[in-house]
Amino acid sequence: MSIESQYQDLLTRLQGLIEGETCQVSVLANTTALLHEVMGERFFWTGFYLAEGDALLLGPFQGSVACYRIKRGRGVCGTAWEQRRSIVVPDVDAFPGHIACSSLSRSEIVVPLIDAKGTVRAVLDIDSRNLNAFDDVDRKALEQVAQIVVNQLYNTAQ
Ligand code: SME
Repeated sequence: MSIESQYQDLLTRLQGLIEGETCQVSVLANTTALLHEVMGERFFWTGFYLAEGDALLLGPFQGSVACYRIKRGRGVCGTAWEQRRSIVVPDVDAFPGHIACSSLSRSEIVVPLIDAKGTVRAVLDIDSRNLNAFDDVDRKALEQVAQIVVNQLYNTAQ
């Protein structure tokens, strides 16, 4: 199955999986589980960091234990939050200030979850054990994942 088909399958399943659920922890937990299930070995660590005050706090994830807090502007996650854009890092050792939660992580992608008011609510962080694992296909698909989650959790009328 091509990467594009895997992502198509993932997006279809995600929509159905989280529909009707409004608990942030539950939705984010199942989203990481689905990403891992569909992408398998391609994704080494998959998780969310939640924006709270001036830091990102570790949220639901799949993979090995990770850092609890990341300051705004720090590491790849904090930079994606501050700059409000997705960041693809082909080689984590070449990214100034990269926070190494695991020495096995070689490349990564971080996608911010931005609500309808323009506030970054969380970031989706995915790491790979291989260099250069992510490209524009991943970025576009994972931005769609982020949008589906944002619409389900943060863009609902209260
Ligand atoms: N790589 C991240 C830190 C989080 S871990 O990879 C789980 C960063 O530099 O933002």
